[in-house]
Amino acid sequence: MNMATCSAFSHTSNSEQVMGLLKKTNLLSVLCCFCLNLTVAIDTIRSSQSINDTEYIISNGSAFRLGFFGPENSTNRYLGIWYNNISVFTVIWVANRQKPLKDSSGILTISKEGNLVVLNGQEEIFWSSNVSNSVTNSSATLGDFGNLVLQQVDTTALVLWEIENHPSDSFLPKMKLSTNLRTDQRVQLTSWKSPSDPSIGSFSAGIDALNIPEIFIWKEGAVSDTFTDSDVLHLPSVVLGSQGNVVQTYWDDGKKDWEVVLIPEDECDVYGTCNAFGSCDSLSSQICSCLRGFEPKIIKEWNRGNWTSGCVRRTPLQCERMNNSIEEGKADGFLKLEMIKVLDFAEWSNVNKEDCRKQCLENCSCVAYGYYTGIGCLSWSEI
Ligand SMILES: *[C@@H]1O[C@H](CO)[C@@H](O)[C@H](O)[C@H]1NC(C)=O
Ligand SMILES: *[C@@H]1O[C@H](CO)[C@@H](O)[C@H](O)[C@H]1NC(C)=O
Ligand SMILES: *[C@@H]1O[C@H](CO)[C@@H](O)[C@H](O)[C@H]1NC(C)=O
Ligand SMILES: *[C@@H]1O[C@H](CO)[C@@H](O)[C@H](O)[C@H]1NC(C)=O
Repeated sequence: MNMATCSAFSHTSNSEQVMGLLKKTNLLSVLCCFCLNLTVAIDTIRSSQSINDTEYIISNGSAFRLGFFGPENSTNRYLGIWYNNISVFTVIWVANRQKPLKDSSGILTISKEGNLVVLNGQEEIFWSSNVSNSVTNSSATLGDFGNLVLQQVDTTALVLWEIENHPSDSFLPKMKLSTNLRTDQRVQLTSWKSPSDPSIGSFSAGIDALNIPEIFIWKEGAVSDTFTDSDVLHLPSVVLGSQGNVVQTYWDDGKKDWEVVLIPEDECDVYGTCNAFGSCDSLSSQICSCLRGFEPKIIKEWNRGNWTSGCVRRTPLQCERMNNSIEEGKADGFLKLEMIKVLDFAEWSNVNKEDCRKQCLENCSCVAYGYYTGIGCLSWSEI
């Protein structure tokens, strides 16, 4: 054992914190030497091992670090995962976000039942992976996509729990947001309450139960914003902010900071700004206008820039007129709108483009349809 190496390490550790995976009974200094001599970071925590508040594990390619942290302006301690190689401290996942540790006595370990657990000094459970089938031997590994996987240690290597089904506010590569209709289980992002409080905030983002590739953001359960760009699912870093904003971030190595793209970018990105039969154009002096054939429901409010009542049809649809046995007029038709974001709550049906149109035309409560290659027929009824 080289003591010189040990003291050199403990010097740098003042600012950098002690790296290593500490067996409860081991002396820290012994382990430090062990780490240094190996010069590789440990990415796995095994049965009977633990890390304390000052220790961490690092993914194999050193992209991510798992350990305890305290958010700015907070004395609480949380187990989390953050980027290891960038200068701006950026947390992508928090374990005990609903139950903060009040001191630095926290320990991450693997329980007798094989669960990954966060305990305090009194060995009270602050977070658990909550796998119900107990296993005798398991280990957790931090991967280079920020994924943490708890696996059975045997020939099956069965995955017991993994982060990608339990995201916090950050969308990670390879993650799939999903809704399981059968079990009503959602894999979704949930915002922090505030930058200093990672507990579950007002916003969640996930996939709607319909088979349509849309991301929905809910505010306390209600849809507040939507966008249909399915590509966003494949972006490397997407975070749901505490204000319900989706933040796409790109690490700019030149600037040594995150390049941030905010969604919504303007008023028109906020869902339902112009309301029923209104169309939003942020470059226009009055951002909202009624679609052709529609007029403001309450003209006075509309002209004052109050869009809450939306627009109404100038002339009733033919099917409505026939129902009310008033005289016949021009046949109903559709106004084609392109390059627009569509409404939530569409109904999907498995028919071709022409039948999609016909089906809507013949149905008086259908107010619009859309046909998208790869998705199919969507229709909307009166809101
Ligand atoms: C684990 O299970 C307990 C008891 O069912 C529950 O109170 C707790 O919220 C669960 N924890 C997580 C992280 O799901
Ligand atoms: C778990 O498995 C590893 C690898 O086979 C073995 O070295 C270790 O002793 C086992 N631990 C327990 C608690 O059985
Ligand atoms: C906007 O119009 C609605 C409907 O008339 C009204 O209830 C609401 O008070 C108006 N809001 C403002 C800010 O004037
Ligand atoms: C008419 O359209 C509405 C909305 O798309 C739909 O909910 C309803 O099932 C349709 N009715 C018939 C008879 O197809």
